[in-house]
Amino acid sequence: MRQPLIAGNWKMNGSRASAEALMRAVVGGVSGGGCSGKAAEVALCVPFVFLDLGERILADTPVRLGAQNVCSEPSGAYTGEIAAAMLKEFGCRYVICGHSERRDYYSETDALIAKKMVRVIEAGMRPILCVGETLEQREQGLTQTVVASQIDAVIAANGIQSFAQIEIAYEPVWAIGTGRTATPEQAQEVHSFIRARIANHDALIADKIRILYGGSMKAGNAAQLLAMPDIDGGLVGGASLVAGEFLAIWQAG
Ligand code: G3H
Repeated sequence: MRQPLIAGNWKMNGSRASAEALMRAVVGGVSGGGCSGKAAEVALCVPFVFLDLGERILADTPVRLGAQNVCSEPSGAYTGEIAAAMLKEFGCRYVICGHSERRDYYSETDALIAKKMVRVIEAGMRPILCVGETLEQREQGLTQTVVASQIDAVIAANGIQSFAQIEIAYEPVWAIGTGRTATPEQAQEVHSFIRARIANHDALIADKIRILYGGSMKAGNAAQLLAMPDIDGGLVGGASLVAGEFLAIWQAG
C-alpha cells in the first residue's frame, strides 16, 4: 500500500504574514480539527524565503516542509542559487524538480533536472519529479512519448535505483492553473503508463513509487482523482493557498 501524499506548491505567492497564517491553519487542520487519523501525508512546498518560518512552525507536526527548486551544483560561485544542503538544513524533506513552469520559463532541460535530483538525494531529501505534456502535444497524440522521454532521461542519467528515493508528479501543462482538470480516467491512463515504464526496469520500485497528480486539483475533484488505482496523491497549486480547500483535498486522500 502506498501512503498518499498531498503536497501544496505555493509557487511565488504569499507574504510573511499570510504564509504564517496558512502554515498554522494547515497544521491545525492536520493535527486536530476533526481531520486526525487520516492516512495521507501532507507537505508544503513554500518559497525559499519562508523556509525558516516553515521550519519553526512545522517542526514536531505531521506537516512536512518542501522547496520548489534547487541548484544543480553542491556549492560555490552560483549567485542567486540555493544548494540542496541549505534546504536540508532548514528541515526540508521534499524538493520539486522540473516543474513545467521551470522547464518553460527558465529553460530547464531533462539533463539539468536529473542533476538537481542527484543533489537533492545526496542531501538526504526526496525530489518530486514533475512530468507532463502541453495541450498541443496531447492533441497530437504525443502524451506518452513526451512523458516517457522525461522519465527515461532521468533513468538514463541517475539510474533506476534513484527512483526508490523520489516521487513523481504527473502534471498535464494544459491543466495547470487553468481550472481545466484531467478527468480521473485521463490521469489514470498516464499514471499507469508511467508505472509500467518504470516496471520495465524494476517492478518493485514501480510498485512502491508514489505518482501524484497535479493540475487544477481542488476539493471538488480530489476524491475522484485519488480513487484511481495509480494516483497516489496530489501536487496542488492554487488550491493549496486556501487552508480549507487544501485540507479538504487532504481529507479526500
Ligand atoms: O505544482 C502544482 C501544479 O502546477 C498545479 O497547479 O493546482 O494551480 O493547477 P494548480
